[in-house]
Amino acid sequence: GDVRLWGGRFEDGPSAALEALSASVHFDWRLAPYDIAGSRAHARVLHKAGLLTADELTRMIDGLDRLAADVTDGSFVATVADEDIHSALERGLLERVGADLGGKLRAGRSRNDQVTTLFRMYLRDHARTIGGLITDLQRTLVGLAEAHQSVAMPGRTHLQHAQPVLFAHHILAHVQPLSRDAERLRQWDKRTAVSPYGSGALAGSSLGLDPEAVAAELGFERGSVGNSIDGTASRDFVAEFAFITAMIGINLSRIAEEIILWNTKEFSFVTLHDAFSTGSSIMPQKKNPDIAELARGKSGRLIGNLTGLLATLKALPLAYNRDLQEDKEPVFDSCEQLEVLLPAFTGMMATLTVNRTRMEELAPAGFSLATDIAEWLVRQNVPFRVAHEVAGECVKECEALGVELDQLTDDQFAKISEHLTPDVRSVLNVAGSLASRNGRGGTAPSAVAVQLSELKADLVIQ
Ligand code: ARG
Repeated sequence: GDVRLWGGRFEDGPSAALEALSASVHFDWRLAPYDIAGSRAHARVLHKAGLLTADELTRMIDGLDRLAADVTDGSFVATVADEDIHSALERGLLERVGADLGGKLRAGRSRNDQVTTLFRMYLRDHARTIGGLITDLQRTLVGLAEAHQSVAMPGRTHLQHAQPVLFAHHILAHVQPLSRDAERLRQWDKRTAVSPYGSGALAGSSLGLDPEAVAAELGFERGSVGNSIDGTASRDFVAEFAFITAMIGINLSRIAEEIILWNTKEFSFVTLHDAFSTGSSIMPQKKNPDIAELARGKSGRLIGNLTGLLATLKALPLAYNRDLQEDKEPVFDSCEQLEVLLPAFTGMMATLTVNRTRMEELAPAGFSLATDIAEWLVRQNVPFRVAHEVAGECVKECEALGVELDQLTDDQFAKISEHLTPDVRSVLNVAGSLASRNGRGGTAPSAVAVQLSELKADLVIQ
């Protein structure tokens, strides 16, 4: 028979060209387990409403269970004639329980309320998976920071040497945004825990069904939607998910870019493990940071998924429009990309080695202690305007002489300013500079230890 869900008023079947355009089963097949869970819940509210007998419900649930098993083991698959996942699974149900019973399940629901409910379920599951993978990365980075708590490195602004910082402080600066991403996923999940099932095509159902019962059975903690038009037509939950995943990609790309730089001959700050780097097909000596590069590259793709989706939604009239079928592939892709990227990225970060000697050699280079001179002068009651000027003159003198700040003689300091007594040397070393920045959030070892314990506590309570 006709496998379409809507043949009744048509004289002719669809053209092959239309079918080719319209088909979505090659990607919405991912929704199969959620579709079947939705059908079970729907069968139960049909029974509650007196539209299925107890015996019919039992046989319906049994048929759905068998269908679910056949989907899982691959013995039931979609055919080219199945327009979408909903058509495919209705065909599967009819084949298992017969057309008389199977044909009753569609009462009071539409693919419009179905698809957006299943989509929410899929994304909520993947949000949990991605959240777990982010936690793994956070733990790895926290471990990396903890294992190198006393290592100093050049801190940069404008990619120029600015002030020395602790390596741990820098690494934790990458953990903080990941904590916010994880929080964003949890907050998104709360907003998305509302079921559109029962909205029908757009206007709700006349059959006395119970959308709250369906919502509860499908794990939507916040019940069913308050507006059936909004339920079927809104996709801000998808756009927000696409934003969060793009932001995760962007945050990874910022770590990645630094790993790529740090892994160069010129920086030589880190060495990547063989198992997490790649070779060249022509240059035998090469060891490339491909994981970091793929992270950088995939962030572009994740941004594209977000912007494409926003463009699809812009100015779309209420309620459901077929344009909305374009909502799924971009975020399916965002999930799948992050789910392959994050484990590799975490592995790369877990196994790299840190070149402490190199980082500490460069930490004071580029006159990065000039601010310490200025702040030392302020502590001697010199106005900051003057102190800044004096420290700048020290740098100028060093450049002229080709020396570092701590190599200026007492006489040279005194000639620059009467305030520059030999005591200034107390801050002209990296350890002193770091230790002095001991306010909350600063780079002093004591402040970084506080940050570390806050982040660890945060990771435990998640
Ligand atoms: N496959 C469609 C989607 O993903 C759901 C079907 C709704 N189709 C329809 N003609 N109302 O949006």
